[in-house]
Amino acid sequence: MRTAGRHFLQIPGPTNVPDRVLRAMDMPTMDHRSEAFAKLGHRVLDGIKTIFKTSGPVVIYPASGTGAWEAALVNALSPGDHVLMYETGHFASLWRTMAGRLGLDPEFIQSDWRSGVDPAEVEARLKDDKAQSIKAVCVVHNETSTGCTSRIDEVRRAIDAAGHTALLMVDTIASLGSIDYRHDEWGVDVTVGGSQKGLMLPPGLSFNALSEKALKASQSARLPKAFWAWEEMLPANAKGFFPYTPATNLLYGLAEAIDMLHEEGLDNVFARHDRHAEATRRAVRGWGLEVFCTEPRHYSSALTAVLMPGGQSADHFRKIVLDAFDMSLGSGLTKIADKVFRIGHLGDFNDLMLAGTLSGVEMGLERAGVPHGKGGVQAALNFLAFDPAATEAEGERAH
Ligand SMILES: Cc1ncc(COP(=O)(O)O)c(C=O)c1O
Repeated sequence: MRTAGRHFLQIPGPTNVPDRVLRAMDMPTMDHRSEAFAKLGHRVLDGIKTIFKTSGPVVIYPASGTGAWEAALVNALSPGDHVLMYETGHFASLWRTMAGRLGLDPEFIQSDWRSGVDPAEVEARLKDDKAQSIKAVCVVHNETSTGCTSRIDEVRRAIDAAGHTALLMVDTIASLGSIDYRHDEWGVDVTVGGSQKGLMLPPGLSFNALSEKALKASQSARLPKAFWAWEEMLPANAKGFFPYTPATNLLYGLAEAIDMLHEEGLDNVFARHDRHAEATRRAVRGWGLEVFCTEPRHYSSALTAVLMPGGQSADHFRKIVLDAFDMSLGSGLTKIADKVFRIGHLGDFNDLMLAGTLSGVEMGLERAGVPHGKGGVQAALNFLAFDPAATEAEGERAH
C-alpha cells in the first residue's frame, strides 16, 4: 500500500537531504578530467575547509566514514604504534577494532558509555607515558550510539598539559555541520568527517582534514596504504582533480550544501541544533523517561538517546512507530541494543519537523503501552514557541 506524505527519517544519520541538494546533484555525469570538473573540484576542496574551520588541506574520499577512519590511521601511523582511544560508545569501539586489525596497538580507556571523554583521564595516562610511546590520541566528537559529545578543546588542553607529542585524531562524522567544531583552533591533527549527517548529503563521501604535523607524520608512516594515500591525493587536488574517479554528482551536492550552511550562518546552524536538542530533552523529561547521556556538559545537539523504562523493548517500540507513523528512529547498538532508542534532530531540520517527530514518539509510546507521563510534546512546544529574539527586543523597548 502506498504511504502518503514524506517518511520521517529521524535516525541520527543518514539525514534528510534537502530538495536543493537533490536538485544540485541531478546533473549529467561529467568528464572528471575536464576543466569544468576542475572548477567544481576547487570549489568543494576550498569550501569544505570553511566547515572544518581549517586553512590546511581536506582530503575527500568516495567512501563512507569508515573509510576515512582507516585513512587517518594508515596515513599517519606505523605497524605496532601505540594509540590511545576512549570508549565513548559503539563507534569508538569500532574504530578501536579497526586499529587492531590494521596492526596498531590500541589502548582503550573504558567508560560506561553515558558521558563523553574525561580529559583528566587522558592527561593522567599521557603523563604516565614518559617514553612518549603513544603516537596518537583518537576520540569521537559526537558518539552517535549514545548521544554524548566530547569537549575537544579540553582534550587538546589535556594533551598539552601532559607535554605529550601524540597526534590528536577526532571523528566528527556525526557532528560536522551540526555542532561547533574548530580543526585549527583546537589543534587537531586529523579530523575525520562524513557526508550523510550534518552536511545533509547522501552517504558516500568522507573526509580527512590535516594539520602540518599530520602531514609530516605521514612522510615517515609505514602502514601500507594505496587507495587512502594522502600523498597521491594532495598533488592532484592542488589542480582541482582526484587521482581516481571521484563521486562527481555527490560533489555537486557538496558544493550546494556548503553554500546552504553559509547562507544560514554556521553559528545559526549550531544554535538551531542546540535548541532542538533542548526541546527534545524537555519532551523526554515530560514523558518521565531518561536521557541516556548523564553529563549535561556532554549532551549532544545532534541526537538524543532515550533509555526505555522498566526493561521494555526499544525495538518493539520503534517498529510500532515505523508501522503506524512512517517514522524511523535510531536503534540501540551492541551493549545497549533494544535498551535505548535514538531521536536524530540534525541536518536539514526545523521546528515543525521536530514537533512532528516528538508527536510520533509520544503517540508510539501510547500505542506500544510504554508507561510514560503526558505532556512531553507540550513541554517541547512551550520551549519552541518561546522566541528569545522577541523577548530581547521587548527588553530593549522597555529601557
Ligand atoms: C560517530 C561515527 N563514526 C563513524 C561512523 C561510521 O561511518 P559510516 O557508517 O559512514 O562508515 C558513524 C556512522 O554512523 C558514526 O556515527
